[in-house]
Amino acid sequence: MRKSKPPPNRPLRPAARVRIRRLTPGDGALAGAALRRFQGRAAGVAKLREYLGGASNLFLLAEIRGIPVGFLRAHVLERPDRIEGQLFIYDIEVAPRYRRRGIGRRLVARALQFARSELLFEAFVLTSRGNRAAAALYEATGASLEDPEALLFVYPLSGGEPGP
Ligand SMILES: CC(C)(COP(=O)(O)OP(=O)(O)OC[C@H]1O[C@@H](n2cnc3c(N)ncnc32)[C@H](O)[C@@H]1OP(=O)(O)O)[C@@H](O)C(=O)NCCC(=O)NCCS
Repeated sequence: MRKSKPPPNRPLRPAARVRIRRLTPGDGALAGAALRRFQGRAAGVAKLREYLGGASNLFLLAEIRGIPVGFLRAHVLERPDRIEGQLFIYDIEVAPRYRRRGIGRRLVARALQFARSELLFEAFVLTSRGNRAAAALYEATGASLEDPEALLFVYPLSGGEPGP
């Protein structure tokens, strides 16, 4: 008999407990699998190992029985105007069928725990105006909206090539 999908918001069964942990250089292959699953691309394992070994790079993985169901990545930014740095939460994603079960909340809580342990003075995150789920998550985890007018500009650069 075909099993139907669990309805949203249903608590996870005890066997499906979510484990959240910071990936370390030995987890290069796992980070690659998670990035390919969630973002469709990943650097090679050697580059990922180097990345995961960076003290200012935080890569949190949420997994159920070893299968990635969500991730958060963030970076510590140093400041020239104060001793303490800040945490830039660059990305967070939970697999669609595991949303609204508290995984995003736990990933953010773990990132904030890391930020406090590093004595950072704040954590911040950017999102799109239309991303209601992300905005609701950040509000639910204690963030306040600082700049509702922010715009995102990007300079595309072809890596390694000299500029104009
Ligand atoms: C944003 C995202 C990471 C939230 O993950 P999640 O695991 O579903 O979040 P949680 O279950 O921990 O939700 C925590 C709280 O956030 C709020 N929230 C989360 N998703 C919501 C939604 N779709 N609508 C309204 N509120 C929402 C609720 O207050 C929720 O608490 P509640 O379930 O007790 O009401 C997830 O929706 C996602 O992966 N989206 C696609 C990727 C993305 O847009 N990332 C953000 C980039 S800036």
